[in-house]
This record gives sequence, structure tokens and C-alpha cells, in this order.
Amino acid sequence: MVDRFGREINYMRISVTDRCNLRCLYCMPEEGIDYKLTHKDILSLEELARLTRVAASVGIKKVRLTGGEPLVRKNIEKLVEYIAEIPEIDDIALTTNGVKFKVMATRLKKAGLKRVNFSLDSLKPERFSYITRGGDIKPVMEGIFTALELGLNPIKINTVVIKGFNDDEVLEFAKLAYDYPLHIRFIEFMPVGDIKFWNEDKLIKSEKIKSRIEHEFELALPDKIVGSGPAKYFKLRGGQGSVGFISPMSNHFCGECNRIRLTADGKLRGCLYSKEEVDLMEAIKQNANDDELAEIFLEAINNKPRHHNFGSGWGKENERKMYQIGG
Ligand code: 5AD
Ligand code: SF4
Repeated sequence: MVDRFGREINYMRISVTDRCNLRCLYCMPEEGIDYKLTHKDILSLEELARLTRVAASVGIKKVRLTGGEPLVRKNIEKLVEYIAEIPEIDDIALTTNGVKFKVMATRLKKAGLKRVNFSLDSLKPERFSYITRGGDIKPVMEGIFTALELGLNPIKINTVVIKGFNDDEVLEFAKLAYDYPLHIRFIEFMPVGDIKFWNEDKLIKSEKIKSRIEHEFELALPDKIVGSGPAKYFKLRGGQGSVGFISPMSNHFCGECNRIRLTADGKLRGCLYSKEEVDLMEAIKQNANDDELAEIFLEAINNKPRHHNFGSGWGKENERKMYQIGG
């Protein structure tokens, strides 16, 4: 399916829950979290599977499960299994904070999970605990090594670079990608989520991070890395993995955007940053058939904006939080 700006839309991110077992400073506000969709507010696993089948019928080929934290959704392996059965879907991935990954990894792989992205903003236990408001880094690192052992390739690590917090760890992260076949993706800090925590002084542009890495490592263009995201990757010469840069702030990549987003409460979005949504949950409640649901998908694809508009302010453009949309 091609949208009105000529972009082929073949990738759907599904936020399977708005809940999370961490409380990252930039993601969740400390005071009363306005999440907690209840059971009846969210799509069942069977409904999610049905919607994915409909999405596949209009051209979706890749699916990523996100949250909140997708691994806190009960029986998530079952959803992986349902999606793995859809012939048109050739890629099922997961973005996780990694806390529960180790204990679930074998089951997820067996269900058909192809690959996994971990979110990890610090390699230092006390900093990890600070940014996640009390999280423990140990199971996360174990999860990453479990994924390596299981050969869930490629394994990507998302690191949001925040000046004064973790920018001094960039080389340590690069070293990790040198030593292991891991793909570390440095993400520019965006004014989304808990925007009280964000300010312009905390932003470091990708170019700067890249040049710091180039002082220590020789970067080279990579052989192809599976995935379809906006990251620009570089191999570390002599090393095993790569580093990548995701630059939503310094570089619009909207022209190559190939994705739509389904939220846990059954809304379909064309853009992370636009509040335009269509309501699939409501349609299901009204007993819509698959053709009618497919129409709604086409509507969302058709309404995809040309590009996001961070400049206009997250609050104005978007009342949903990151953990409700799935990053
Ligand atoms: N800026 C950049 N990345 C963010 N993420 C969450 N909030 C922000 C933000 N404000 C990232 C998470 C995770 C991915 C799903 O989105 O760290 O890696
Ligand atoms: Fe949870 Fe991810 Fe948000 Fe951290 S960034 S609180 S891990 S959803």
C-alpha cells in the first residue's frame, strides 16, 4: 500500500499494553500515571491477531510489538504465535526494556519471534536505576546475552542520549558493539513522553556523538542490516557489531516512513506525533467485517501526514504519552 506521498507502508507497530515495569524519567511522569487501561478497554490477543491479518491484507509485512513494556502483557507469546501464522508477515520483532526477557526468551523464540530490540540508556547500574526510577540492570544485561545465545539476529540496543546523563558513556556503548554482534542505536532525545523532563540543553545531535566515536573507532558503511527503520548504521572496523544513529531532531526521516501504529486500545495512528487516529476498537464493537476493517486501515494510511511537527509542541499536537503509543 502506497500513501499519498508515495511512501510504501508495510510496517505496523503494535503497542500491546500501556503498562510498564519500569518508570523511565523521560517516559513516565512520577505523579499519578494516567495509564491503566482496563481489560475491556484493550484489544484481546485474538482481536490483535485479527487486526494484524487485516493489516497484512492491505500490505503490512513486518510487525513489531511494543508497549509500554510488551512482556508484561499476559500470554504475549500467544500473540507472537498468531502473528507468525500469517503468511504475508515475514518479520516479527519486539522492543523491550529487557527486564523479563531472559525468562521468556525461549518461549518467545519458539512462538516465532525473529528479533528483538532492547532499550538501554546506561551501562552503569546506579545510573540505570536512576533513569528507570529503581530498575535493576542485571536481568537486562542477562536478557541481551540470552538473545545473543539464541541467535535472535540482529539484536539492536536503543540508547537515548541525554546530555549530562549518559553522553559520557557513548564510547562504552560503542565498545559493546565492537566486542559483540550488537547494533547500538543512539537516539536523539525528543520532546515526547514526559516533556517536563525534556529541554533543549539535554539534546545532543547525532553528528556530535558520531564524531566522538570516530576518535576511537574507525567507522565503515555496513553490509545490509535487517530492519527498515530510520537509523543510519556504521560498522566498527575490526569489531563485530555496529553503531547507528536515529536523528529525529536534526534530520527528518519522515520521507522514508513506512509505518503505522496500533495502540492497545484499538486506535490506529499514521504518525507518532500526530493526534489523528481512527478507531478500530469501536468498529470491532460494531461488528465490522474484515473488509470494513481494511477500509479503516486504508483511511489511516491515507491520513498519514507528510512529516511530524515537533516544533509545534507535544502537548498541543498530542495528548497521548509515549508509553501509550509505543515509541
Ligand atoms: N526521546 C527519544 N527516545 C525515546 N524513547 C522513549 N521516549 C523517548 C524520547 N523522549 C525510546 C525508548 C525506547 C523506544 C521505544 O523509544 O527509550 O528505546
Ligand atoms: Fe517503560 Fe520504556 Fe517507558 Fe522506560 S521508556 S518507562 S522501559 S515504556
